[in-house]
Amino acid sequence: GPGLGVEIVQIVNRLQDVFSTVGTTASAIDLPQICVLGAQSSGKSSVLENIVGRDFLPRGTGIVTRRPLVLQLINRPAANKPAADSNNNPNEWGEFLHIPGQKFFDFNKIREEIVKDTEAKTGKNAGISPVPINLRVFSPNVVTLTLVDLPGLTKVPVGDQPKDIERQIRDMLVKYISKPNAIILAVTAANTDLANSDGLKLAREVDPEGLRTIGVLTKIDLMDRGTNVIDILAGRIIPLRLGYVPVVNRGQRDIDTNKAISAALEYERQFFETHDAYSSKASYCGTPYLAKRLNLILMHHIKSTLPDIKAKIEEQKKAHQAELLQLGGGPGEDNAANIVLSAITFFDHEFRNAIDGTTNDLSVNE
Ligand code: GDP
Ligand code: NA
Ligand code: MG
Repeated sequence: GPGLGVEIVQIVNRLQDVFSTVGTTASAIDLPQICVLGAQSSGKSSVLENIVGRDFLPRGTGIVTRRPLVLQLINRPAANKPAADSNNNPNEWGEFLHIPGQKFFDFNKIREEIVKDTEAKTGKNAGISPVPINLRVFSPNVVTLTLVDLPGLTKVPVGDQPKDIERQIRDMLVKYISKPNAIILAVTAANTDLANSDGLKLAREVDPEGLRTIGVLTKIDLMDRGTNVIDILAGRIIPLRLGYVPVVNRGQRDIDTNKAISAALEYERQFFETHDAYSSKASYCGTPYLAKRLNLILMHHIKSTLPDIKAKIEEQKKAHQAELLQLGGGPGEDNAANIVLSAITFFDHEFRNAIDGTTNDLSVNE
């Protein structure tokens, strides 16, 4: 899958490597959490899965995601030769907080366990629970970062759902999306009315400036003939500072027939490239472009945290030098601190190069 970009994975890893080799305490690059928000069955789980590039989330019609799934991606260098079967790679596995020590190499088994533990806590009859499922995925191909899959906004209780289901789900979502470092993917199905998007409304409540909300328009393939989302993309309906990205995920039939992510992405690419309304802007459409924009936002975030990290290291360096003087030595060279400081200067430069020329991309949709 497109994943979250080789470039950012490499930059973050190298930065973290420098920190760990010199043993500085200022090693925390606290990346934002990416949360999905939107109506039930708008395609939230499908979008997240495509971003991660692996098949492991329960998806489908009706209320499938019934507890929050806090998914921590953790970068870990490859230790083994990868197997030919990409759905069973010895370097990529998942671990659940509720089953310590058990490694899941088969991502289909991860999905089964999510379903099993959802049912264990909420029953089989559409019940919901705010108690999150915590899953960590270790892989050489991910950037260390957290994604949160959330139940969808819904109004009418079904099955074992409480009478105040709307409020309960809303409260659950607000808890995640109001964190200042949450990036909100506000998902709306393109075959529904944007003006009625409860996800967008809620996103606006917690992020009125729209600084951390990206609109995602799913099910473009299911729109009525002759209709399209061009007006939305151009910001003429409900403008969002970070804009909208239209995507085509796998449909229910694709899920039932186990269509691979790679085939789905290829279909998505062809869909936009050959569509009358989108072909001229196909590079601004689809999952790879969404991943690109997320990368850019993450880069900006890291870049903005560098001065703070730098200041902390300068402080450590001073404290260390004072200590050396007290011990009766000379002012001395603080090699560890110097290595980290020059590394930060280097990365700062690298980020500027990576971000330069694309900065406008963050505020303008096309
Ligand atoms: P969630 O409830 O918001 O997490 O939505 P899911 O990801 O579980 O998807 C709900 C249903 O919509 C599933 O049957 C998906 O196959 C289908 N779906 C999601 N996105 C798309 C899309 O872009 N196109 C089509 N045709 N179906 C989609
Ligand atoms: Na669903
Ligand atoms: Mg879901």
